[in-house]
Amino acid sequence: MKQKIAIVGLGYVGLPLACICAKNGYDVAGFDLSNEKVDLVNLGKSPLQDEFIEENIKKYGKGIRASTNPSEVLGNANVIIVCVPTPAIGDKPDLSFVENACKTVAPVVSKETLVIIESTIYPGTVEEVVQPILETGSKLKAGEDFFLGHCPERIDPGNKKFTIDKIPRVLGCLSAKGNRKAKEFYESIIDAEITVLKSVKAAEAVKVVENTFRDVNIAFVNELAKSFEKMGIDLSEVIRGASTKPFGYMPFYPGPGVGGHCIAQDPYYLIARAQKAGFEHEFLKLAREINESMPAFSVELAEELLRKKGVSINGAKIAVLGIAYKPDVDDSRESPAIKIIKLLEEKGAVLRIFDPFIPSKSTVKTLKEAVEDADLVVLATHHSEFVKSLTADFIESKGVGAVLDLRNSLDRQSIAERGVLYKGIGR
Ligand SMILES: NC(=O)c1ccc[n+]([C@@H]2O[C@H](COP(=O)([O-])OP(=O)(O)OC[C@H]3O[C@@H](n4cnc5c(N)ncnc54)[C@H](O)[C@@H]3O)[C@@H](O)[C@H]2O)c1
Repeated sequence: MKQKIAIVGLGYVGLPLACICAKNGYDVAGFDLSNEKVDLVNLGKSPLQDEFIEENIKKYGKGIRASTNPSEVLGNANVIIVCVPTPAIGDKPDLSFVENACKTVAPVVSKETLVIIESTIYPGTVEEVVQPILETGSKLKAGEDFFLGHCPERIDPGNKKFTIDKIPRVLGCLSAKGNRKAKEFYESIIDAEITVLKSVKAAEAVKVVENTFRDVNIAFVNELAKSFEKMGIDLSEVIRGASTKPFGYMPFYPGPGVGGHCIAQDPYYLIARAQKAGFEHEFLKLAREINESMPAFSVELAEELLRKKGVSINGAKIAVLGIAYKPDVDDSRESPAIKIIKLLEEKGAVLRIFDPFIPSKSTVKTLKEAVEDADLVVLATHHSEFVKSLTADFIESKGVGAVLDLRNSLDRQSIAERGVLYKGIGR
Protein backbone atom coordinates (compact mmCIF):
# COMPACT_ATOMS: atom_id res chain seq x y z
CA MET A 1 0.00 0.00 0.00
CA LYS A 2 1.14 3.53 -0.78
CA GLN A 3 2.57 5.48 2.17
CA LYS A 4 0.49 8.51 3.06
CA ILE A 5 2.14 11.89 3.53
CA ALA A 6 0.14 14.72 5.14
CA ILE A 7 1.37 18.26 4.64
CA VAL A 8 0.13 20.98 6.95
CA GLY A 9 0.37 24.45 5.35
CA LEU A 10 0.24 24.69 1.56
CA GLY A 11 2.38 27.77 0.90
CA TYR A 12 5.74 28.47 -0.72
CA VAL A 13 7.20 25.54 1.24
CA GLY A 14 4.33 23.06 1.64
CA LEU A 15 3.08 23.14 -1.95
CA PRO A 16 6.30 22.27 -3.79
CA LEU A 17 6.89 19.60 -1.15
CA ALA A 18 3.43 18.16 -1.81
CA CYS A 19 4.23 18.12 -5.54
CA ILE A 20 7.49 16.19 -5.18
CA CYS A 21 5.86 13.71 -2.78
CA ALA A 22 3.07 13.11 -5.33
CA LYS A 23 5.67 12.86 -8.11
CA ASN A 24 7.39 10.08 -6.16
CA GLY A 25 4.22 8.04 -5.87
CA TYR A 26 3.09 8.91 -2.35
CA ASP A 27 -0.55 9.39 -1.45
CA VAL A 28 -0.48 13.10 -0.52
CA ALA A 29 -2.93 14.95 1.68
CA GLY A 30 -2.75 18.70 2.24
CA PHE A 31 -4.31 20.64 5.07
CA ASP A 32 -4.56 24.43 5.03
CA LEU A 33 -6.83 27.03 6.63
CA SER A 34 -7.36 28.89 3.35
CA ASN A 35 -10.42 27.78 1.36
CA GLU A 36 -9.11 29.55 -1.72
CA LYS A 37 -5.76 27.69 -1.65
CA VAL A 38 -7.40 24.34 -1.01
CA ASP A 39 -9.92 24.79 -3.84
CA LEU A 40 -7.21 25.73 -6.34
CA VAL A 41 -4.96 22.84 -5.31
CA ASN A 42 -7.88 20.42 -5.76
CA LEU A 43 -8.36 21.83 -9.27
CA GLY A 44 -4.67 21.16 -10.01
CA LYS A 45 -3.92 24.89 -10.07
CA SER A 46 -1.26 26.84 -8.21
CA PRO A 47 -2.46 29.51 -5.79
CA LEU A 48 1.01 31.07 -6.02
CA GLN A 49 2.76 32.62 -9.00
CA ASP A 50 5.72 30.25 -8.97
CA GLU A 51 6.96 28.43 -12.06
CA PHE A 52 8.02 25.24 -10.23
CA ILE A 53 4.70 24.90 -8.39
CA GLU A 54 2.65 25.82 -11.48
CA GLU A 55 4.36 23.18 -13.63
CA ASN A 56 4.42 20.44 -11.04
CA ILE A 57 0.91 20.88 -9.71
CA LYS A 58 -0.32 20.54 -13.28
CA LYS A 59 1.61 17.27 -13.65
CA TYR A 60 1.18 15.72 -10.20
CA GLY A 61 -1.74 17.62 -8.64
CA LYS A 62 -4.03 14.60 -9.14
CA GLY A 63 -2.04 12.87 -6.43
CA ILE A 64 -2.75 15.62 -3.87
CA ARG A 65 -6.01 15.88 -1.94
CA ALA A 66 -6.41 19.12 -0.01
CA SER A 67 -8.93 20.20 2.60
CA THR A 68 -9.56 22.81 5.28
CA ASN A 69 -11.06 20.05 7.39
CA PRO A 70 -8.30 18.12 9.19
CA SER A 71 -10.46 15.06 9.79
CA GLU A 72 -10.92 14.68 6.01
CA VAL A 73 -7.23 14.52 5.17
CA LEU A 74 -4.93 13.94 8.12
CA GLY A 75 -6.04 10.50 9.34
CA ASN A 76 -3.76 7.46 8.82
CA ALA A 77 -0.81 9.51 7.64
CA ASN A 78 2.54 7.74 7.91
CA VAL A 79 4.43 11.02 7.72
CA ILE A 80 3.11 14.43 8.79
CA ILE A 81 5.08 17.50 7.77
CA VAL A 82 4.36 20.93 9.23
CA CYS A 83 5.08 23.89 6.92
CA VAL A 84 3.19 26.79 8.51
CA PRO A 85 4.47 30.37 8.86
CA THR A 86 6.84 31.45 11.61
CA PRO A 87 6.71 35.23 11.51
CA ALA A 88 8.16 37.75 13.92
CA ILE A 89 6.01 40.49 15.42
CA GLY A 90 8.52 43.32 15.58
CA ASP A 91 11.52 41.49 16.96
CA LYS A 92 9.46 38.82 18.79
CA PRO A 93 9.14 35.31 17.30
CA ASP A 94 5.54 34.21 16.84
CA LEU A 95 5.22 30.44 17.15
CA SER A 96 1.41 30.51 17.35
CA PHE A 97 1.00 29.01 13.84
CA VAL A 98 3.26 26.08 14.73
CA GLU A 99 1.47 25.59 18.05
CA ASN A 100 -1.97 25.64 16.41
CA ALA A 101 -0.88 23.29 13.63
CA CYS A 102 0.51 20.85 16.20
CA LYS A 103 -2.75 20.99 18.20
CA THR A 104 -4.58 20.00 15.01
CA VAL A 105 -2.12 17.25 14.20
CA ALA A 106 -1.82 15.72 17.69
CA PRO A 107 -5.06 13.68 17.69
CA VAL A 108 -4.11 11.88 14.45
CA VAL A 109 -0.58 10.98 15.55
CA SER A 110 -0.45 7.24 16.15
CA LYS A 111 2.20 4.61 16.82
CA GLU A 112 5.05 4.82 14.26
CA THR A 113 3.88 8.14 12.74
CA LEU A 114 6.80 10.34 11.72
CA VAL A 115 6.17 14.05 12.43
CA ILE A 116 8.59 16.52 10.91
CA ILE A 117 8.58 20.28 11.42
CA GLU A 118 9.92 22.04 8.31
CA SER A 119 8.96 25.55 9.40
CA THR A 120 11.92 27.65 10.52
CA ILE A 121 12.11 27.51 14.31
CA TYR A 122 14.64 28.42 16.97
CA PRO A 123 16.72 25.79 18.75
CA GLY A 124 14.62 24.05 21.37
CA THR A 125 11.21 24.54 19.73
CA VAL A 126 10.65 20.86 18.91
CA GLU A 127 11.44 19.65 22.42
CA GLU A 128 10.04 22.61 24.38
CA VAL A 129 6.96 23.54 22.34
CA VAL A 130 6.02 20.87 19.79
CA GLN A 131 6.69 17.68 21.75
CA PRO A 132 4.46 18.54 24.76
CA ILE A 133 1.56 19.52 22.45
CA LEU A 134 1.84 16.31 20.41
CA GLU A 135 2.27 14.05 23.45
CA THR A 136 -0.70 15.59 25.26
CA GLY A 137 -2.97 15.39 22.21
CA SER A 138 -1.93 11.88 21.15
CA LYS A 139 -1.31 10.37 24.58
CA LEU A 140 1.81 8.81 23.07
CA LYS A 141 5.51 9.31 23.79
CA ALA A 142 7.66 11.07 21.19
CA GLY A 143 10.84 9.21 20.28
CA GLU A 144 9.35 5.94 21.54
CA ASP A 145 5.81 5.53 20.20
CA PHE A 146 6.03 8.01 17.38
CA PHE A 147 8.94 9.83 15.75
CA LEU A 148 9.54 13.55 15.87
CA GLY A 149 12.16 15.79 14.36
CA HIS A 150 13.10 18.84 12.35
CA CYS A 151 14.22 19.11 8.75
CA PRO A 152 14.57 22.80 7.88
CA GLU A 153 13.36 23.77 4.43
CA ARG A 154 15.95 25.70 2.43
CA ILE A 155 13.86 26.38 -0.66
CA ASP A 156 14.68 29.50 -2.68
CA PRO A 157 11.49 30.35 -4.61
CA GLY A 158 12.25 31.36 -8.19
CA ASN A 159 15.64 29.60 -8.20
CA LYS A 160 15.59 27.45 -11.33
CA LYS A 161 18.86 25.62 -10.66
CA PHE A 162 18.28 24.66 -7.03
CA THR A 163 14.66 23.59 -7.01
CA ILE A 164 13.26 21.94 -3.85
CA ASP A 165 14.24 18.44 -4.99
CA LYS A 166 17.88 19.42 -5.60
CA ILE A 167 18.72 21.13 -2.33
CA PRO A 168 20.67 19.08 0.24
CA ARG A 169 18.93 18.67 3.59
CA VAL A 170 19.94 18.35 7.19
CA LEU A 171 17.71 16.74 9.78
CA GLY A 172 17.60 15.71 13.40
CA CYS A 173 15.06 13.56 15.24
CA LEU A 174 14.59 12.67 18.90
CA SER A 175 15.64 9.05 18.37
CA ALA A 176 17.96 6.99 16.16
CA LYS A 177 14.98 5.15 14.65
CA GLY A 178 13.34 8.50 13.86
CA ASN A 179 16.54 9.63 12.12
CA ARG A 180 16.60 6.45 10.03
CA LYS A 181 12.95 6.81 9.01
CA ALA A 182 13.28 10.52 8.22
CA LYS A 183 16.47 10.02 6.19
CA GLU A 184 14.84 7.22 4.22
CA PHE A 185 11.80 9.40 3.50
CA TYR A 186 13.77 12.46 2.37
CA GLU A 187 16.08 10.30 0.25
CA SER A 188 13.00 9.06 -1.56
CA ILE A 189 11.94 12.58 -2.64
CA ILE A 190 15.18 14.56 -2.82
CA ASP A 191 18.01 14.09 -5.26
CA ALA A 192 20.71 15.56 -3.02
CA GLU A 193 22.60 14.67 0.13
CA ILE A 194 20.64 14.18 3.36
CA THR A 195 22.77 14.79 6.44
CA VAL A 196 21.63 13.53 9.83
CA LEU A 197 22.78 15.72 12.72
CA LYS A 198 23.38 14.55 16.25
CA SER A 199 20.52 16.54 17.80
CA VAL A 200 17.23 18.17 16.94
CA LYS A 201 18.59 21.45 18.37
CA ALA A 202 21.51 21.38 15.93
CA ALA A 203 19.09 20.92 13.00
CA GLU A 204 16.97 23.79 14.30
CA ALA A 205 20.03 26.02 14.64
CA VAL A 206 21.22 25.28 11.08
CA LYS A 207 18.47 27.21 9.37
CA VAL A 208 18.55 30.28 11.62
CA VAL A 209 22.34 30.34 11.31
CA GLU A 210 22.22 30.14 7.50
CA ASN A 211 19.79 33.01 7.23
CA THR A 212 21.53 35.08 9.89
CA PHE A 213 24.77 34.58 7.94
CA ARG A 214 23.09 36.23 4.96
CA ASP A 215 21.64 39.01 7.09
CA VAL A 216 24.98 40.02 8.63
CA ASN A 217 26.85 39.85 5.34
CA ILE A 218 24.22 41.97 3.61
CA ALA A 219 24.36 44.41 6.55
CA PHE A 220 28.14 44.57 6.07
CA VAL A 221 27.88 45.62 2.41
CA ASN A 222 24.96 47.92 3.16
CA GLU A 223 27.11 49.70 5.73
CA LEU A 224 29.95 49.85 3.20
CA ALA A 225 27.52 51.41 0.71
CA LYS A 226 26.88 54.24 3.16
CA SER A 227 30.54 54.71 4.03
CA PHE A 228 31.89 54.48 0.46
CA GLU A 229 29.23 56.99 -0.59
CA LYS A 230 30.98 59.53 1.66
CA MET A 231 34.44 58.54 0.39
CA GLY A 232 33.40 58.59 -3.26
CA ILE A 233 34.33 54.94 -3.83
CA ASP A 234 32.28 52.78 -6.18
CA LEU A 235 31.36 49.74 -4.05
CA SER A 236 30.32 47.70 -7.13
CA GLU A 237 33.87 47.97 -8.44
CA VAL A 238 35.27 46.98 -5.04
CA ILE A 239 33.03 43.90 -4.90
CA ARG A 240 33.96 43.04 -8.47
CA GLY A 241 37.62 43.22 -7.51
CA ALA A 242 37.30 41.31 -4.22
CA SER A 243 35.31 38.58 -5.97
CA THR A 244 38.36 37.64 -8.01
CA LYS A 245 39.91 36.15 -4.84
CA PRO A 246 39.26 32.42 -5.17
CA PHE A 247 39.09 31.74 -1.42
CA GLY A 248 38.09 33.53 1.76
CA TYR A 249 35.67 35.97 0.12
CA MET A 250 32.08 35.58 -0.96
CA PRO A 251 30.28 38.48 -2.66
CA PHE A 252 27.14 40.00 -1.15
CA TYR A 253 25.49 43.04 -2.67
CA PRO A 254 24.03 46.21 -1.17
CA GLY A 255 20.38 47.13 -1.66
CA PRO A 256 17.33 48.78 -0.13
CA GLY A 257 17.25 46.33 2.81
CA VAL A 258 16.27 42.68 3.15
CA GLY A 259 12.82 41.18 2.95
CA GLY A 260 10.95 37.92 2.65
CA HIS A 261 9.64 35.54 5.25
CA CYS A 262 13.14 34.31 6.16
CA ILE A 263 16.19 36.58 6.23
CA ALA A 264 14.39 39.60 7.66
CA GLN A 265 12.95 37.53 10.52
CA ASP A 266 14.99 34.43 11.32
CA PRO A 267 17.78 36.36 13.06
CA TYR A 268 15.15 37.53 15.58
CA TYR A 269 14.45 33.87 16.38
CA LEU A 270 18.10 33.28 17.20
CA ILE A 271 18.46 36.56 19.11
CA ALA A 272 15.34 35.86 21.20
CA ARG A 273 16.30 32.28 22.05
CA ALA A 274 19.84 33.27 23.04
CA GLN A 275 18.42 36.10 25.17
CA LYS A 276 16.27 33.56 27.00
CA ALA A 277 19.43 31.57 27.66
CA GLY A 278 21.20 34.69 28.99
CA PHE A 279 23.20 35.79 25.94
CA GLU A 280 22.86 39.08 24.01
CA HIS A 281 23.70 38.82 20.30
CA GLU A 282 24.88 42.44 19.92
CA PHE A 283 26.39 41.82 16.47
CA LEU A 284 23.22 40.26 15.09
CA LYS A 285 21.04 43.04 16.51
CA LEU A 286 23.30 45.62 14.84
CA ALA A 287 23.04 43.78 11.50
CA ARG A 288 19.25 43.87 11.80
CA GLU A 289 19.36 47.60 12.59
CA ILE A 290 21.57 48.36 9.59
CA ASN A 291 19.38 46.40 7.18
CA GLU A 292 16.25 47.94 8.67
CA SER A 293 17.75 51.42 8.12
CA MET A 294 18.16 50.90 4.37
CA PRO A 295 14.64 51.91 3.24
CA ALA A 296 15.08 55.30 4.97
CA PHE A 297 18.58 55.63 3.47
CA SER A 298 17.07 54.87 0.03
CA VAL A 299 14.52 57.64 0.51
CA GLU A 300 17.32 60.05 1.49
CA LEU A 301 19.04 59.19 -1.80
CA ALA A 302 15.76 59.82 -3.64
CA GLU A 303 15.38 63.21 -1.98
CA GLU A 304 18.95 64.17 -2.85
CA LEU A 305 18.49 63.23 -6.51
CA LEU A 306 15.29 65.25 -6.74
CA ARG A 307 16.99 68.20 -5.04
CA LYS A 308 19.70 68.10 -7.73
CA LYS A 309 16.91 68.32 -10.32
CA GLY A 310 15.39 71.25 -8.43
CA VAL A 311 12.27 69.23 -7.55
CA SER A 312 10.81 68.96 -4.06
CA ILE A 313 9.89 65.45 -2.93
CA ASN A 314 6.55 66.84 -1.80
CA GLY A 315 4.50 66.57 -4.97
CA ALA A 316 7.23 64.87 -7.03
CA LYS A 317 6.03 62.26 -9.53
CA ILE A 318 7.83 59.06 -8.55
CA ALA A 319 7.56 55.65 -10.20
CA VAL A 320 8.31 52.83 -7.76
CA LEU A 321 9.15 49.68 -9.71
CA GLY A 322 8.85 46.44 -7.79
CA ILE A 323 7.01 45.51 -4.61
CA ALA A 324 8.25 41.92 -4.20
CA TYR A 325 11.20 41.36 -1.89
CA LYS A 326 13.26 39.69 -4.63
CA PRO A 327 13.17 39.38 -8.43
CA ASP A 328 10.61 37.36 -10.34
CA VAL A 329 8.48 36.27 -7.39
CA ASP A 330 5.08 37.48 -6.15
CA ASP A 331 6.00 37.51 -2.44
CA SER A 332 6.01 40.95 -0.78
CA ARG A 333 6.34 39.83 2.85
CA GLU A 334 8.70 42.17 4.74
CA SER A 335 9.67 43.74 1.42
CA PRO A 336 11.79 46.91 1.73
CA ALA A 337 9.82 48.32 -1.23
CA ILE A 338 6.73 48.53 0.96
CA LYS A 339 8.62 50.54 3.58
CA ILE A 340 10.05 52.83 0.89
CA ILE A 341 6.56 53.44 -0.55
CA LYS A 342 5.24 54.36 2.90
CA LEU A 343 8.12 56.79 3.57
CA LEU A 344 7.76 58.42 0.13
CA GLU A 345 4.02 58.83 0.68
CA GLU A 346 4.63 60.43 4.08
CA LYS A 347 6.85 62.97 2.33
CA GLY A 348 4.06 63.87 -0.08
CA ALA A 349 5.41 62.19 -3.23
CA VAL A 350 2.86 61.28 -5.91
CA LEU A 351 3.49 57.60 -6.54
CA ARG A 352 2.91 55.29 -9.44
CA ILE A 353 3.63 51.79 -8.21
CA PHE A 354 4.11 48.84 -10.54
CA ASP A 355 4.98 45.20 -10.01
CA PRO A 356 4.03 42.76 -12.80
CA PHE A 357 3.95 39.92 -10.24
CA ILE A 358 1.73 41.80 -7.78
CA PRO A 359 -1.03 43.61 -9.73
CA SER A 360 -3.21 43.80 -6.60
CA LYS A 361 -0.76 46.21 -4.95
CA SER A 362 0.19 48.10 -8.12
CA THR A 363 -1.46 51.45 -8.84
CA VAL A 364 -0.84 51.28 -12.61
CA LYS A 365 -1.03 48.43 -15.11
CA THR A 366 2.13 48.80 -17.19
CA LEU A 367 5.75 49.81 -16.89
CA LYS A 368 5.22 52.52 -19.50
CA GLU A 369 2.36 54.03 -17.53
CA ALA A 370 4.48 54.01 -14.39
CA VAL A 371 7.53 55.78 -15.78
CA GLU A 372 5.94 58.25 -18.23
CA ASP A 373 7.17 61.74 -17.34
CA ALA A 374 8.29 60.67 -13.86
CA ASP A 375 10.56 63.07 -11.98
CA LEU A 376 12.20 60.00 -10.53
CA VAL A 377 12.15 56.26 -11.21
CA VAL A 378 13.02 54.12 -8.18
CA LEU A 379 13.99 50.55 -9.08
CA ALA A 380 13.17 48.69 -5.86
CA THR A 381 13.07 45.10 -7.20
CA HIS A 382 15.17 43.92 -10.14
CA HIS A 383 12.53 41.78 -11.86
CA SER A 384 13.98 40.49 -15.18
CA GLU A 385 11.32 42.44 -17.09
CA PHE A 386 12.51 45.71 -15.53
CA VAL A 387 16.20 45.06 -16.08
CA LYS A 388 15.52 44.18 -19.73
CA SER A 389 13.18 47.10 -20.43
CA LEU A 390 14.82 49.95 -18.54
CA THR A 391 17.34 50.79 -21.25
CA ALA A 392 18.74 54.29 -21.71
CA ASP A 393 16.59 54.63 -24.87
CA PHE A 394 13.42 53.71 -23.02
CA ILE A 395 14.16 55.95 -20.04
CA GLU A 396 15.01 58.92 -22.26
CA SER A 397 11.96 58.38 -24.46
CA LYS A 398 9.66 58.49 -21.42
CA GLY A 399 11.03 61.85 -20.27
CA VAL A 400 12.28 60.51 -16.94
CA GLY A 401 14.17 63.07 -14.82
CA ALA A 402 16.29 60.79 -12.64
CA VAL A 403 16.83 57.11 -11.84
CA LEU A 404 17.50 55.63 -8.41
CA ASP A 405 18.74 52.09 -9.01
CA LEU A 406 18.49 50.41 -5.60
CA ARG A 407 19.65 47.10 -7.07
CA ASN A 408 22.58 48.39 -9.13
CA SER A 409 21.24 46.48 -12.07
CA LEU A 410 20.87 49.10 -14.80
CA ASP A 411 23.43 50.45 -17.24
CA ARG A 412 24.55 53.51 -15.33
CA GLN A 413 26.86 54.87 -18.02
CA SER A 414 24.42 54.81 -20.92
CA ILE A 415 21.63 56.29 -18.77
CA ALA A 416 23.88 59.12 -17.57
CA GLU A 417 25.09 59.75 -21.13
CA ARG A 418 21.50 60.68 -22.04
CA GLY A 419 21.57 63.43 -19.45
CA VAL A 420 19.35 61.47 -17.03
CA LEU A 421 20.57 61.72 -13.45
CA TYR A 422 21.51 58.23 -12.20
CA LYS A 423 22.27 57.02 -8.70
CA GLY A 424 22.93 53.48 -7.56
CA ILE A 425 23.43 52.24 -4.05
CA GLY A 426 27.08 52.53 -3.06
CA ARG A 427 27.94 53.70 -6.55
N1 LIG B 1 9.13 31.17 1.68
C1 LIG B 1 10.36 30.72 1.69
O1 LIG B 1 11.17 31.06 0.82
C2 LIG B 1 10.85 29.81 2.79
C3 LIG B 1 12.05 29.12 2.61
C4 LIG B 1 12.50 28.26 3.59
C5 LIG B 1 11.77 28.12 4.76
N2 LIG B 1 10.61 28.82 4.93
C6 LIG B 1 9.89 28.60 6.19
O2 LIG B 1 8.81 27.71 5.94
C7 LIG B 1 7.67 28.08 6.72
C8 LIG B 1 6.47 28.33 5.81
O3 LIG B 1 6.75 29.44 4.99
P1 LIG B 1 5.94 29.74 3.66
O4 LIG B 1 6.70 30.78 2.94
O5 LIG B 1 5.59 28.47 2.98
O6 LIG B 1 4.62 30.37 4.28
P2 LIG B 1 3.23 30.61 3.50
O7 LIG B 1 2.54 31.70 4.22
O8 LIG B 1 3.47 30.73 2.04
O9 LIG B 1 2.45 29.23 3.72
C9 LIG B 1 2.02 28.81 4.96
C10 LIG B 1 0.63 28.21 4.82
O10 LIG B 1 0.25 27.69 6.10
C11 LIG B 1 -1.15 27.91 6.26
N3 LIG B 1 -1.46 27.82 7.68
C12 LIG B 1 -1.28 28.74 8.66
N4 LIG B 1 -1.65 28.23 9.85
C13 LIG B 1 -2.05 26.97 9.62
C14 LIG B 1 -2.55 25.94 10.45
N5 LIG B 1 -2.67 26.11 11.76
N6 LIG B 1 -2.92 24.78 9.88
C15 LIG B 1 -2.79 24.60 8.54
N7 LIG B 1 -2.31 25.54 7.70
C16 LIG B 1 -1.95 26.70 8.24
C17 LIG B 1 -1.39 29.25 5.63
O11 LIG B 1 -2.75 29.40 5.26
C18 LIG B 1 -0.45 29.19 4.42
O12 LIG B 1 -1.10 28.71 3.26
C19 LIG B 1 8.10 29.27 7.55
O13 LIG B 1 8.58 28.83 8.79
C20 LIG B 1 9.24 29.85 6.74
O14 LIG B 1 10.15 30.58 7.56
C21 LIG B 1 10.11 29.63 3.97
